[in-house]
Amino acid sequence: MFDDAVRQDSPIHDGVADLRLEQANREDWSAVAGPHWKDPESLYTHLSQNTNIIEAARRMEWNDVVPEEAVVLDLGCGSGWLAAMLTQHPGVHKVVAWDASPALLTDVVPAMVSLMGGDLSKVERVCAHFTPLLIDDASIDLAVMSSAFHHSSSPESLLEDLVRVLRPGGAIVLLNEVPFPVPIMLGAIGTRAIAAAVNAMTTRLTISKPGHVAADHLLYDDVLGDRALTEAQWRRLFRRHNLAVQIIDTSLPSYPRGFRPRQRLEKNLTHFVLRPQGSRERAGAGSH
Ligand SMILES: C[S@@+](CC[C@H](N)C(=O)[O-])C[C@H]1O[C@@H](n2cnc3c(N)ncnc32)[C@H](O)[C@@H]1O
Repeated sequence: MFDDAVRQDSPIHDGVADLRLEQANREDWSAVAGPHWKDPESLYTHLSQNTNIIEAARRMEWNDVVPEEAVVLDLGCGSGWLAAMLTQHPGVHKVVAWDASPALLTDVVPAMVSLMGGDLSKVERVCAHFTPLLIDDASIDLAVMSSAFHHSSSPESLLEDLVRVLRPGGAIVLLNEVPFPVPIMLGAIGTRAIAAAVNAMTTRLTISKPGHVAADHLLYDDVLGDRALTEAQWRRLFRRHNLAVQIIDTSLPSYPRGFRPRQRLEKNLTHFVLRPQGSRERAGAGSH
């Protein structure tokens, strides 16, 4: 299923330090996203008690998108809780748990699958980036990404690749995204514009505002690469790729009230179910 072009000989000559692996490790999610990403038990407790993402995924109508003998791609699988959940669906044959973090795939995913009561024999772990997506054309029945798509630095290429790897009748489900409310987006753009104007006018004062504003998104965390999009921006992105979208409002905020109160205008965890326009319903989907 995967492209052999991944393995290439190093072009570095003798006597030249090759720091690429070191750099890759520095970007490892488990090293930058906080201490509990290293420990499966505390991560499982955090995700299941302090966030609503697992409960929101349970609210998805999986029978609508999982055909029989399904090959599922969990892209940006992180700790693997969603891959684990999907191995329990009777239609799922295999889940490819794909992430750029070697530490998560090696040290966390197997334990998380067991804590979630999943079936590790159905999980194939792959350490690679989102794009280019080194998977054969038309080889995946269902691609899922939980809280992960908005970390892509090239969402257009990623969607193009996701559509390419889908089998006819397949679906892409982007789970646990939180569309940005328009007033909050305008406020974030305004404060960054003011900071940029001040920085442009004076040599004495520097206003530091993380991230940047772009025509089709706001990058608000430049360490983890979080992008915010309004619902209109999400819809426009999907339209550019000729994807029909079903928007599922899970009615759950990202965090239970006891852990963190909902912020002003904050939207619920939202799932986007995407299907290439004109693709036929695959026989068997929804029959479980
Ligand atoms: C916010 S976490 C979400 C993890 C998991 N899906 C969940 O719902 O808990 C984002 C994940 O995407 C991975 N990731 C971010 N950018 C990536 C990229 N360009 N290629 C592959 N994985 C990436 C990170 O390593 C991290 O595990």
